[in-house]
Amino acid sequence: MKHTNSKKLLSDQITEQELQVILRELARTYDVSGDVVEFGCYVGTTSVYLARELQGSGKQLYLYDSFEGLPEKRPEDSSPAGEQFKAGELHATKKKLIRNLKQANVPMPNITKGWFSDVEPRQVPQQISFAFLDGDYYDSVIDPLRLIWDRLSPGAIVVVDDYANEALPGAAKAVDDWLKTHHAHLSVEASLAILRT
Ligand SMILES: C[S@@+](CC[C@H](N)C(=O)[O-])C[C@H]1O[C@@H](n2cnc3c(N)ncnc32)[C@H](O)[C@@H]1O
Repeated sequence: MKHTNSKKLLSDQITEQELQVILRELARTYDVSGDVVEFGCYVGTTSVYLARELQGSGKQLYLYDSFEGLPEKRPEDSSPAGEQFKAGELHATKKKLIRNLKQANVPMPNITKGWFSDVEPRQVPQQISFAFLDGDYYDSVIDPLRLIWDRLSPGAIVVVDDYANEALPGAAKAVDDWLKTHHAHLSVEASLAILRT
C-alpha cells in the first residue's frame, strides 16, 4: 500500500484513518476478478487514491455521481445531528473532479454523471471486485447495492461510508435492511461498514 498524507486530502469527506481502511480492503481484493466502483465520488478525495492503487492492476475504476450534490432526504435520513446535510450540499462539478484526477496524474477512470436511481445496468461493470459506497443517504446506499450485488465476484468487498455516523443514519439503515435479505459478513471500523461476500 502506498503512503497517504492527510495534508493532501482534497476534502474533509474522508479521514486519513478511513482512507487507510478503504485502501487496505481494496488490496485484499487484488486477486478477485472484476473492476472497482465508487458511488459518490464528489471531488475525488478517495477516487485519486483508488485510481493510484489500481494503476497497472488491469482493473478499471468506475465513478458515479449526480454532480448536483445530495438529493432530498427521506425520513430514514433525518437526524438532529445531521441538519447541515441538505439537498444540493456536496455539489462538485465533473470538470473539477477531472481536474483533480489529472493533477494527481492517475489513469482517468470511467465517470458516469447521474442519480444512482437512474444508472442503468449497462453502465456498471459486469464483474466487480471492490465497491466503495459514499452517497450518505438511505436511497444513495441502497440503489448502488441493488445495481452491484449480483455482479460481485466471489471474495468481493463492499465498503460503505457513514455506517457509524449519527448525522447520516440512513446509510446504516440501508445496509441493515439490505442484509436482512442478502448474505454478507459485516464488520465496522471507524465509520465504515465492511461487507465481505
Ligand atoms: C460524501 S460525498 C462523497 C465523497 C467522496 N467519496 C470523496 O471521497 O470525496 C457524497 C457524494 O454523493 C453524491 N450523491 C449522493 N447521493 C446521490 C445519488 N442518489 N445519486 C447520485 N449522486 C449522489 C453527492 O453528489 C456527493 O458528491
